[in-house]
Amino acid sequence: MSVTASPAAVRSIYSSRSARDRAPRPRVVMTVRSSSTTLSAVPILTKLQRDCATPLPVLRHVADAMAADMRAGLEADGGSDLKMILSYVDALPTGNEKGLFYALDLGGTNFRVLRVQLGGKDERVVATEFEQVCIPHELMFGTSEELFDFIASGLANFAQKEGGKFNLPQGRTRELGFTFSFPVKQTSIDSGILIKWTKGFAVSGTAGKDVVVCLNEAMKRQELNMRVSALVNDTVGTLAGARYWDDDVMVAVILGTGTNACYVERVDAIPKLHSPNSTSGRTIVNTEWGAFSSGLPLTEFDREMDAESINPGEQIFEKTISGMYLGEIVRRVLIRMAEDARLFGDSVPEKLQMSFSLRTPDICAMQQDCSRDFEIVGSILYNVAGVNSNSSARKIVIDVCDAIAKRGGRLAGAGIVGILQKMEEDSKGTVFGNRTVVAMDGGLYEHYPQYRRYLQDAVTELLGPEISKNIVIEHSKDGSGIGAALLAATNSMYGH
Ligand code: BGC
Repeated sequence: MSVTASPAAVRSIYSSRSARDRAPRPRVVMTVRSSSTTLSAVPILTKLQRDCATPLPVLRHVADAMAADMRAGLEADGGSDLKMILSYVDALPTGNEKGLFYALDLGGTNFRVLRVQLGGKDERVVATEFEQVCIPHELMFGTSEELFDFIASGLANFAQKEGGKFNLPQGRTRELGFTFSFPVKQTSIDSGILIKWTKGFAVSGTAGKDVVVCLNEAMKRQELNMRVSALVNDTVGTLAGARYWDDDVMVAVILGTGTNACYVERVDAIPKLHSPNSTSGRTIVNTEWGAFSSGLPLTEFDREMDAESINPGEQIFEKTISGMYLGEIVRRVLIRMAEDARLFGDSVPEKLQMSFSLRTPDICAMQQDCSRDFEIVGSILYNVAGVNSNSSARKIVIDVCDAIAKRGGRLAGAGIVGILQKMEEDSKGTVFGNRTVVAMDGGLYEHYPQYRRYLQDAVTELLGPEISKNIVIEHSKDGSGIGAALLAATNSMYGH
């Protein structure tokens, strides 16, 4: 490592030493140089923390704007950043669902297939089996047909292995709940048009098409006897899955690669729904809150990342709070510190210059490092960026991770309060005055303890101690797969 400190910094540290002590001794020089380097990164850190700050008034603004945008999106399509998509899920699982159902979960770099045997009120979920398949990177940029063929062949392989506890009555077609975690304009419970890809997908030929038709055609090519009974967003699947066990679940939020939220809405509170056709009087609305953008505390690093993304100007909330982007924002800050304050030495680490080379799991792991010299941070920086770092540089890196995770968690918390607030305004006392559960899922929420804590703190700060006692924010692990299978059962062509 060859770091040169500014002459002023070197002078001030040496000022009380004798001339003999000033003779160059590599170890001392190294320490002096490193801490002065770290010092020059401090103003960048301080500015970042200031630009990212989420004090109560900012959180309040975000919650209020979220509620207002929800109303505008319910008023008319295109009325706000939030699409407020109708899910056509009017009847939630009751526990009476019986039979063998499948689920397919496509939403990130993997897809999952599930087989679920439901046993009704007493037996509930008798057995589940699942397989996860990694989607080759090139398919995320290929054609629609290639992607759906790949998925249908995974599904066909999985279906072939049926047996044991999984029974399909003779002559019946297999039924599938299809969790498709991208913005889709639903046209019925089993059809929907892809509006656009998110989360780095850029598959050609799918936007504007019915994704159920795409899957059905691919299943036909695989000669797979299966039909989609329910097309659901992952938030909707999570809400249904969590509601199966707990009647108080009213909202579901995904915080993973991407982010989104859905909630249970009264049909008479949806002006854009001209002929309400729900026996329960309620329906699930998929907010697509990733597109929210009002009053967010954004930094120059966010703006640059957005400008260079494949969807500039879109999904701004998602780019600020979700797992796909947190590591990338931190990387951009570290590059600035390396360039302007020589945080990692004279040169800017080449490996770190690669977009998305620092991932959110890396920044999460670095934040868990409690060792005296931050050895985990040191080895992650070495592996990811190929740099040797000293402990003061590592501390700065942790502070950068914390600033970005804190902003993300707190803004996610404010978004949740915005949804609850909107529901409460329409039906006074029903949300804040009763136990209300927000079902959470996604790797970011599950695996990043600081992020989770920041989210909960923001909710408590905004709602105050009394109301927050009624709001239960809980993890509903992998609920969306089971939820989709349950919704396939609820909407089965054979009844249930
Ligand atoms: C998609 C949503 C999805 C969310 C979480 C977003 O990018 O637009 O439909 O629910 O990611 O997976």
